[in-house]
Amino acid sequence: MAVAESHLVRRLRSGSVEPYSLFGLANTPRRLHHCSVQIRKASVEDAVEACQVVRRSIAELCQADHQDDPIVLEKWLSNNTFDNMRSWIADPDSYVVVATEGAAIIGVGAITFSGEITLNYVSPDARFRGVSKAVLNQLEARALELGNNTCALTSTETARRFYLSAGYVQFGPPEPGIGKGSSYRMVKQLFPSAQAV
Ligand SMILES: CC(C)(COP(=O)(O)OP(=O)(O)OC[C@H]1O[C@@H](n2cnc3c(N)ncnc32)[C@H](O)[C@@H]1OP(=O)(O)O)[C@@H](O)C(=O)NCCC(=O)NCCS
Repeated sequence: MAVAESHLVRRLRSGSVEPYSLFGLANTPRRLHHCSVQIRKASVEDAVEACQVVRRSIAELCQADHQDDPIVLEKWLSNNTFDNMRSWIADPDSYVVVATEGAAIIGVGAITFSGEITLNYVSPDARFRGVSKAVLNQLEARALELGNNTCALTSTETARRFYLSAGYVQFGPPEPGIGKGSSYRMVKQLFPSAQAV
């Protein structure tokens, strides 16, 4: 099993196999049930719009963290630039997905090969419609495909309740967040059922 997984990871790293093809879904975006939202792997052409979604999500939804403090917000946004988004999408060690509705990007997620979730942002226009949940499911499925049995992340104050309801548990005490709220290291044990989106 360990040999098969490391072989798989090597093939994924080299790009010789598309992640979706592991489930017979090569190049097929995954569609959410009951709505027109789809999750697909991001391409560098998505970088501008994906970056805008992340920046709006931070500015408009994460008030519990930045409390509308312009200095905190500027510092937070300074890492979420178009150039950084493009390099995350192009990075072979990172897997970035976008949620789309029609032609519009309404959510962005990313995970590393070791199962660390580094992005999960929904457009303010699409809040509480299941987008972050669907993105998270896709990232967890990806982590499983890569042989990880856990996912870990650092949650904002804003999203803590969301991750708790998605099965994540906090480990360690709250840490200082980027703003005035706290951040929370969280982990989830994955099971193969997480593969279904
Ligand atoms: C909180 C947030 C992550 C939820 O994502 P979403 O796409 O809007 O919502 P979804 O429909 O996928 O998930 C709904 C879940 O959010 C949680 N939720 C509901 N209201 C909430 C609130 N006011 N605050 C926080 N979480 C809430 C619940 O767990 C709910 O699940 P339930 O309906 O089964 O109870 C999102 O709205 C948000 O604020 N994102 C800001 C960016 C961010 O902090 N990202 C995380 C970086 S670590």
